[in-house]
Amino acid sequence: MPPPVSEHDLARLVDAARAVRQNAHAPYSKFRVGAALLDEHGHVHAGCNVENAAYPQGLCAEAVALGALVAAGGRHVRAAVVVAESPHAVTPCGGCRQKLREFASDDTPVWSADPQGWRARHTLGELLPASFGPGHWVSS
Ligand code: THU
Repeated sequence: MPPPVSEHDLARLVDAARAVRQNAHAPYSKFRVGAALLDEHGHVHAGCNVENAAYPQGLCAEAVALGALVAAGGRHVRAAVVVAESPHAVTPCGGCRQKLREFASDDTPVWSADPQGWRARHTLGELLPASFGPGHWVSS
């Protein structure tokens, strides 16, 4: 079992997700999202949604944060925080759950927050049960 994520790291994550959300490019939906991921080195990687006039080309905040983590040399997500303003706690979309699955575990915590406070905590396994992942590949 990996060590639990500290309160200090959670505060770093939510601060980073709230800050990067300010940079969201969301002129179409007006729905700004920030995400922050903690890697195995203790580094925080943040991303915001980046929409596009050709709608399907838009990127979710989680995907942008994951790209930053991998580009920086990270290979494991220890915790994720998603920040958005909504009547409901915002969790990663289905596609991003699968993207996270590549670099996270069933017990990886995925926190939802808004600009004011915490909204929800799920594990990735709760969000994406019975998932397909790297372990399903037979190594050659
Ligand atoms: N979005 C995210 O970036 N992350 C989520 O977890 C939910 C949705 C973005 C995609 C799109 O730019 C906007 O929010 C509305 O769906």
